[in-house]
Amino acid sequence: MSDLYAEAVNSLPGRLIAGRLGLPRPARLRRHRPGDPVISGAVLIGGAPGGRLTGALQRLIVQIGAQRASAGQTPVGALVFDATGIEDSTQLVELQRFFHPNVKRVQPCGRIVVLGAPPQSPSGRSTAERSASVRRATAQRALEGFTRSLAKEVGKGIAVQLVHVAEGAEEQIDSTMRFLLSPRSAYVSGQVIEVGVPVAESPAIDWEHPLAGKRALVTGASRGIGEAIATTLHRDGAQLILLDVPALSEDLAKVADRLGAQSIELDITDSDAPARIADSLNSGVDVVVHNAGVTRDRTLAKMPEDRWSSLMEINLSSEERIDDELLSRGLLAQNGRIVCVSSMSGIAGNAGQTNYATSKAGVIGMVQALSGELAKRHVTINAVAPGFIETQMTAKMPIAIREAGRRMNSMSQGGLPLDVAETIAWLASPASTGVNGNVVRVCGQSLLGA
Ligand SMILES: NC(=O)c1ccc[n+]([C@@H]2O[C@H](COP(=O)([O-])OP(=O)(O)OC[C@H]3O[C@@H](n4cnc5c(N)ncnc54)[C@H](O)[C@@H]3O)[C@@H](O)[C@H]2O)c1
Repeated sequence: MSDLYAEAVNSLPGRLIAGRLGLPRPARLRRHRPGDPVISGAVLIGGAPGGRLTGALQRLIVQIGAQRASAGQTPVGALVFDATGIEDSTQLVELQRFFHPNVKRVQPCGRIVVLGAPPQSPSGRSTAERSASVRRATAQRALEGFTRSLAKEVGKGIAVQLVHVAEGAEEQIDSTMRFLLSPRSAYVSGQVIEVGVPVAESPAIDWEHPLAGKRALVTGASRGIGEAIATTLHRDGAQLILLDVPALSEDLAKVADRLGAQSIELDITDSDAPARIADSLNSGVDVVVHNAGVTRDRTLAKMPEDRWSSLMEINLSSEERIDDELLSRGLLAQNGRIVCVSSMSGIAGNAGQTNYATSKAGVIGMVQALSGELAKRHVTINAVAPGFIETQMTAKMPIAIREAGRRMNSMSQGGLPLDVAETIAWLASPASTGVNGNVVRVCGQSLLGA
């Protein structure tokens, strides 16, 4: 559905009126097109003394063919700051010193990434060592406030993120940085992403087709976000197995034909669904995307049990059963991926959605609880949590709720199914082997929730 407000305030007269009245003017977000470079525009790299990512960043900039920005060059495509050397709150001023003179140099739809260390529980034997590790964790945690606030200040479609890079994971930043620096992350901002040690050996990657030779199962693939996920994973080279309910068999067949995919028609809540899915994946699967989901909104006082339970079955319990079946039969390949679709409602809560928010928060719980177990099996599990995405579902909302959903985020607009799909494609990439247990919001930094 088109965003008439955004079109109006971006027209010449609309721009003048919006400026005079102080109305939000959503930037036209740039999205990735196949063949585009990772980033257009030069990259300015800074850092606090003692950072451990200088080498990895320099190598990455060369590999993606980006220019290093020279002093005074304006505009720049991205600012990247290595904050891993910050040991103490007094050193946080390094952020101000780097960003204050440079933040205005970032071009529209540019990128800002701060790289920090995961704040860890205090360690060390002596009191002095423990005190130093507390100071370090304090200062590293402070980076979150900085990046989330900067993301709310910059405007112009610029996205700002914090990436925590664990010790020993310095060489694992490539897939995440390629995603965050590029227009693929158009609607992702104000996020904190954890990059850890790899769960499997990183293979050599064809960055245009990172999923070449990989098999990916996508549930709920006949329309909306699921169709966009299927299309994007196909673009990245995956062979697809697409699943949806028998009632949508025609729609599913159209998508499957277009993408040369195998299709499975079934209801994931059927008692034999996990076994039937596993049977059709005989030769195994590399990527499983749990996208199928429904809303059945009602305030709790008006919520009958069947409305609660049928939703919980679709959005959460069936995913658990499918994962159990695939894992117990050993069908998830080495360096395999499970990517779940949660929701901003599962983080912030939403009136009328106790059932939906419970199920989507449960999805986050599943990701957090399973990530350690799956790492031992060389598999990662992550979730995306979309905010307001322009789909048939959101087009049906009453206009006031729809407009509020669109504007109440740092990008002042709704996202596209493609934005969710690009985020899933990054998590699904074989190169994202150090990205495990994350929940990444695709919400333009919604003002609701953390
Ligand atoms: N649209 C948004 O703004 C938004 C926001 C947050 C989260 N999400 C989540 O994104 C996912 C996709 O949402 P969408 O907006 O594309 O919705 P949609 O209704 O267009 O698509 C959902 C798909 O899941 C399928 N599905 C539903 N029940 C199923 C079942 N029992 N078995 C098999 N397939 C089933 C549907 O047939 C449909 O094809 C959902 O999990 C949803 O909760 C969407």
